[in-house]
Amino acid sequence: MQCCNLHLPNGAEFFHKTLIYLKPIIDNHGRPITYLRLAVTDRCNLRCFYCMPEEGINYVPKPHLLTWEEMERTVKLMVQMGIDKVRITGGEPFVRRGMMEFLEKISKIEGLRQINLTTNGVLTAPLVPDLKRLGIKSVNLSLDSLDRQRFFEITRRDEFERVWQTFEALQAHQIQTKLNAVVMSGKNIEDLIPMAELTRTHDVSVRFIEEMPFNGEGQHQYEEFWSHRRILEELKKHYPGIYKLPDPPASTSYNYQIPDHKGSVGIIAAFSRTFCGTCNRVRLTPQGDFRTCLYGEAALNIRDLLRQGLSDEAIQWRIQETLQHRAKDGFEAEAKRSTGAVSESMSTIGG
Ligand code: 5AD
Ligand code: SF4
Repeated sequence: MQCCNLHLPNGAEFFHKTLIYLKPIIDNHGRPITYLRLAVTDRCNLRCFYCMPEEGINYVPKPHLLTWEEMERTVKLMVQMGIDKVRITGGEPFVRRGMMEFLEKISKIEGLRQINLTTNGVLTAPLVPDLKRLGIKSVNLSLDSLDRQRFFEITRRDEFERVWQTFEALQAHQIQTKLNAVVMSGKNIEDLIPMAELTRTHDVSVRFIEEMPFNGEGQHQYEEFWSHRRILEELKKHYPGIYKLPDPPASTSYNYQIPDHKGSVGIIAAFSRTFCGTCNRVRLTPQGDFRTCLYGEAALNIRDLLRQGLSDEAIQWRIQETLQHRAKDGFEAEAKRSTGAVSESMSTIGG
């Protein structure tokens, strides 16, 4: 169906002219959608065991990637729909040329309250003063071990030093820092307590994440799964006084305080999926797939809509409509997939 050169589905001609968005958009389960996770590249300079095979993944061909301009336009039109927080992720965002210029551009978008970043920290330390200048408030740094050898075994690259320099630079510039550690049997269990110890002297949130069994090779069986409950039990053994903190709205982590520590500890039930009921987030992959759940299939490809020449309003209409068919939770989303269980690397989906 065509109307004013817009390609709209049946019945949409009237609505696209009259639609006034209730901001933010509320999905079909009553959840306000305010948070976009934007994966700007699927390329990465590490090869984390839980994310990619050693030889890497088949990268998306360059012409299929959203350009910076396409990403900027998409962010703008989503901000008009009530998105007020964007997390830039990947892959590793800083391996894509033009990343800082892009940050500069989107930092000027009116209505975008907060821009956060997830990085592996290999290239980030020298950029921290600029991140501060651009008003980046919070950075999630992936760091699965404080031990150089274990770091190497997990990431297959000897880059611990540079990542640690990033941590120190973030602290020195008082950018709120969250350290993300995926908890893996046989890989970094010995790091649980040393990482929790970091919160004693540093104002940092150390977050332990359940491993999700997909890494670009299909789902694998666990030798021993470290659930959020088991992680907490381990922490309680060492810190009997550890207590629960109130979790911010739509938080994915259960947050805890160890008495007298400066920072806090979080546990993310990424595989148990306990947080879906308040999920306020959507994802845009490097190839423009709009995903309304980490565990689901792409609901829409925004790159195609942009390259077909659709207007902002028509694209917004399609997004709005897609959000009315969102799965209730990650289990429903996974069950609905036509291609079976999730197997892609997080760097393709957006970590
Ligand atoms: N399981 C859990 N977390 C993962 N990440 C990537 N792959 C996985 C996985 N299989 C998360 C890690 C990493 C971020 C980029 O994505 O937290 O730090
Ligand atoms: Fe790279 Fe992050 Fe995947 Fe590690 S988890 S390989 S740092 S994208």
